[in-house]
Amino acid sequence: MSELISGKIISAQINDELRQEVDLLKAKGIEPCLAVVLVGEDPASEVYVRNKKRTCEEIGIKSIGHNLSKTTTQKELETLISTLNDDPAVHGILCQFPLPEGLDETSVILTISPEKDVDGLHPFNAGLIAMGKPRFISCTPYGVLQMLKRSSISTSGKNAVVLGRSNLVGRPIATLLSSKGWDATVTVCHSRTDDLAEVTSQADILIAAIGIPQFVTEKMVKKGAVVIDVGINRIDDPSKAKGSRLVGDVFFEEVEAKAAFITPVPGGVGPMTIAMLMVNTVNAARWQNGLAELNI
Ligand SMILES: NC(=O)c1ccc[n+]([C@@H]2O[C@H](COP(=O)([O-])OP(=O)(O)OC[C@H]3O[C@@H](n4cnc5c(N)ncnc54)[C@H](OP(=O)(O)O)[C@@H]3O)[C@@H](O)[C@H]2O)c1
Repeated sequence: MSELISGKIISAQINDELRQEVDLLKAKGIEPCLAVVLVGEDPASEVYVRNKKRTCEEIGIKSIGHNLSKTTTQKELETLISTLNDDPAVHGILCQFPLPEGLDETSVILTISPEKDVDGLHPFNAGLIAMGKPRFISCTPYGVLQMLKRSSISTSGKNAVVLGRSNLVGRPIATLLSSKGWDATVTVCHSRTDDLAEVTSQADILIAAIGIPQFVTEKMVKKGAVVIDVGINRIDDPSKAKGSRLVGDVFFEEVEAKAAFITPVPGGVGPMTIAMLMVNTVNAARWQNGLAELNI
């Protein structure tokens, strides 16, 4: 049986550490502040935004919500973001995606000041990651790294395989794991990869981020591997009151018998993503006030 890496427990530890850091900052007259922009009424986005604001509250970070109607124009949205860019009391800006149809997400990402880009999506911050000098790391990849670090899993010299090459998850994880300090030998797989199972079964560390429920089966995993499941997928399950349940991209019940470490879904990478947004917001407040980054 494998050892479970619990994102619930690790994110709670990080949030506790942040609470103390925020108290120290407040004693210096600095109140970290995150502006959260939501456009339209997508129910999943409303839940994500609510959870982010609740975590801010728990840690002592001020959150300012801007809920805009789905008829908001690109210009109105970007004017709001420019106002937030110019407001010294706002340290971090998050615009919840996906945006309603007709609005251009790339243009919004480019409008957010790289100094306040706590989601780590701006090309300037992605470029710093590629240069091996990360500033804001996008929250899910950052969460994956913290899970490895806080579980004392060494990546140096290890064969890491990342399943998925999205700009949000797969690509930054692969870049970070291959950078100095993490020092893994990284292979990136995608929908055109030949003989995928042959590649994944060589992995000491396997990161699954493809968005296909229970795709990674026992046969695709090396015995004793570390398996990090980024996927969040809802599948039908008539035995549940809701008629469905969440699963990852890994067939957990099969793979847990073979892996040395594995993350669950839910309760794995998901809670880490919000915790790392909080870390980025506190760091934004620190950097904007001439302080060094947190030692997380
Ligand atoms: N835990 C969290 O907080 C969190 C955050 C973000 C995302 N997620 C979850 O993570 C998963 C991935 O998200 P994403 O945004 O990276 O998804 P995405 O943008 O759809 O990217 C999926 C990637 O998987 C690859 N892929 C698709 N089918 C494949 C196959 N059969 N074999 C090999 N590779 C395949 C795609 O390859 P191509 O490039 O060739 O198309 C693509 O690179 C989703 O389940 C999402 O819900 C979780």
